[in-house]
Amino acid sequence: MSESQTKATNITWHPGEVSRDDRKRILGHRGCTMWFTGLSGSGKSTVAVALEKALWDRGICAYILDGDNVRHGLNKDLGFSPEDRTENIRRIGEVANLFTDAGVINLTAFISPYRADRDGVRALMTEGDFIEVYIDCPLEVCEKRDVKGLYAKAREGKIPEFTGISAPYEAPDKAEITLKTGENTLEESVAQLLKYLEDNDYISKA
Ligand code: ADX
Repeated sequence: MSESQTKATNITWHPGEVSRDDRKRILGHRGCTMWFTGLSGSGKSTVAVALEKALWDRGICAYILDGDNVRHGLNKDLGFSPEDRTENIRRIGEVANLFTDAGVINLTAFISPYRADRDGVRALMTEGDFIEVYIDCPLEVCEKRDVKGLYAKAREGKIPEFTGISAPYEAPDKAEITLKTGENTLEESVAQLLKYLEDNDYISKA
């Protein structure tokens, strides 16, 4: 919901006295959001978990927002219709923006199938805060893995609107990073992400 659609009236923005630079100085790194997008089973959560651990081991404050987890709480009122998915991503975008402002390296793992929704989050955030990471894994590979058994159910028609089977996935056309999880190892993917963060001065070199 944009400012022009804000429902409440008589609300005033109250600025704090701690700046982004202050936070960066104390934490030793810059906050940002690495926005993982890809099919179910493509490896978003797996890569995010491994990257979070690798960052944490280097003393960097990282935190994962994961689709399945967030749908247990904040977004428990949302399903998988196009409208609900859009609202899912809108809310997460707002949360990610807050985490980023707080100085955290925020890793979000949502299918986020619609390009317009992801671009909406990008537009919400300060330039450079949003790093789109396309987890590029062919549907056949995701379906073969079928870690949660959901593709089999979707093929049997037991799960409506399942991404890749009966609902669309729009691949990014301007992702900062593309990971080929069907071809590369988990370690290679994590190394690729750490290198991007180092090369672009989000974190210092190990
Ligand atoms: S998103 O499309 O709105 O971004 P999100 O990432 O929050 O989706 O949730 C996706 C997860 O929900 C999948 O990994 C899968 O475990 C589960 N899921 C349940 N039903 C569906 C469905 N119809 N389509 C896709 N994922 C589903």
